[in-house]
Amino acid sequence: MPIPKAELHLHIEGTLEPELAFALAHRNGVDLPYSSPEQLRAAYAFDDLQSFLDLYYQLMDVLRTEDDFTELAEAYLTRAAAAGVRHAEIFFDPQAHTARGVELDDVVRGLSRALSRAGERHGISTRLIMCFLRDLPQESALATFEAARPWFGRAISGVGLDSAEVGHPPAKFADVYALAREAGLHLVAHAGEEGGPEYVREALDVLGVERIDHGIRSMEDPELVKELVARRVPLTVCPFSNVRLRCVDTLADHPLPAMLEAGLVATVNSDDPAYFGGYVDENFAGVERALGLTEDQLRLLARNSFEASFLEDDEERRAA
Ligand code: ADE
Ligand code: ZN
Repeated sequence: MPIPKAELHLHIEGTLEPELAFALAHRNGVDLPYSSPEQLRAAYAFDDLQSFLDLYYQLMDVLRTEDDFTELAEAYLTRAAAAGVRHAEIFFDPQAHTARGVELDDVVRGLSRALSRAGERHGISTRLIMCFLRDLPQESALATFEAARPWFGRAISGVGLDSAEVGHPPAKFADVYALAREAGLHLVAHAGEEGGPEYVREALDVLGVERIDHGIRSMEDPELVKELVARRVPLTVCPFSNVRLRCVDTLADHPLPAMLEAGLVATVNSDDPAYFGGYVDENFAGVERALGLTEDQLRLLARNSFEASFLEDDEERRAA
């Protein structure tokens, strides 16, 4: 039985497996520049974050209808249940869909349908977090924010910040995060993945985020680590992703043990499991093997995931 856990850093578009991509491409009349799922999978060799993002955005083009998004999320939730996930806080990238002519309401309705069935079908509670693409101007994030307003507090629980990090510091999105705070949404942001610890500092100080996604480069700034520890700001770490995107040389070099040693509230997550070689249970098994994590450390990671979640206390106890 896999250890019960919450998954807090998961891009639903990053769960698009090659087989489903081909099935949706066929259904929607989309031409993929690959001859088979195997050939597509063979293209998953990345040099950095951008080389992954290029393929990730290209492949999303097969997602067209409300049903496509339901099917995508349903496939993830089925796999997540087998991985011991009891609670999932799921990212999606609205601008990557609306820019292609897919209506925001279709995306949210399609995802929500799968999420609302997840308790009954898979024993998983869920939240949905809408991410802004940081390589687009803040004006685009503001327009997306306003378009999504009717869903706040119902389908959408929070906002996040993802896509190409370097050159797009958190402060660029100060206004839209201020509005999200006023709207009562939860606030998270990717920071310290490829960008330096100063991005983590800015996400905390300027955006006021409650959690940092990735955050591994925080380890380069001891004062920042001290503050993250003192404030118990969680970091949603994604070990397989960090290796595949070459943020870390090998799994055996991953800073996760040092992060736990420092007292950081670190969690383990899969990020984009269809692209990075494994779901969250496989990330747990990978760090156990490569880093020699003890049973106590694995249990601490699982406990941290519930503490770091946006579940209320009574829900947290039930899920854990
Ligand atoms: N979008 C999907 N996965 C991402 C990652 N690991 N970093 C930034 N943006 C992303
Ligand atoms: Zn991510």
